Amino acid sequence: MSWMPVFAPQSPQAEAIAALFMNFLILAAVIFIIVSGLVIYSLVRYRARQHSGEPAKNFGSRRLEITWTVIPLMVVLALFIVTVRTMAFVDAPQEPVQPPDLIVTGHQWWWEARYPNGAVTADEIHIPAGTRALVRIESADVIHDFWLPELARKMDAVPGRPAYIWLEANAPRTYEGACSEFCGMQHAGMRFVVVAQPAPAFSEWLRHQRETSPEPSGTIAIQGARLFRDQKCGDCHTISSGEPSTGKGPTLSHIAARGLLGGRLANTRENLTLWITSPQSIKPGNKMPDQHIAAQDVLALVEYLETLQ
Ligand code: CUA
Repeated sequence: MSWMPVFAPQSPQAEAIAALFMNFLILAAVIFIIVSGLVIYSLVRYRARQHSGEPAKNFGSRRLEITWTVIPLMVVLALFIVTVRTMAFVDAPQEPVQPPDLIVTGHQWWWEARYPNGAVTADEIHIPAGTRALVRIESADVIHDFWLPELARKMDAVPGRPAYIWLEANAPRTYEGACSEFCGMQHAGMRFVVVAQPAPAFSEWLRHQRETSPEPSGTIAIQGARLFRDQKCGDCHTISSGEPSTGKGPTLSHIAARGLLGGRLANTRENLTLWITSPQSIKPGNKMPDQHIAAQDVLALVEYLETLQ
């Protein structure tokens, strides 16, 4: 059922949840068929007929009472056991027993990802495929909910109460995620992607993300870098990994190497220009005000951002 990502699990955790759901569904369907079959049979078999008189009455049957108490009890007990087993497999320990492989923080309305080596990125999270990563989910403002339907497990990001999930993908691919808890105007725009890569490619990506992009060499890009400082872009956006997050706007480190808005907007010069001049037209309500900057300055800023590979 690939038309619905929830039924197309792509991680051991999501597979376990989908299997549990299917087992419940099948068992419930079987019970439904048996019960409704008996009801229909009784309706037909014992319906009122002419000259049939009152039907015979039976009072009390210990054997029947025990049977219809024990059978549902066994069914509920079996469901309880498989549920607890699935939870034990799927849920990460909520006490920090080991340092997390990744810290994800929900902001209105973007996701920040921090790696132990200091690399920081936004709305595009990389993980090694086939490896279980312990992810700490946090929120910087209101309650968000980190959800990748194909990878599970869905987890609320609650301010002041970090939670942990296992994040794993069976195969290298890009998986789409979304915020799943209403968190304000751009809740629906709080999308992200998880890029699962083969381990060597992931290590290379992580190493590169940690590096600070070299200073630009082109005249226009140098001018753009100066504008970036003069216009106080850095008050909200960090440029190099390792800098403490401002918490206000997504990091722009290696921005040229990833998609915009969690991959929803192609990273082209046109879109970067549009975003700088009129972010409110693309993502109304977001914290970045429209910038009233001269066209050639915008051009220089875009030129500079493009160097942040
Ligand atoms: Cu964040 Cu909805």
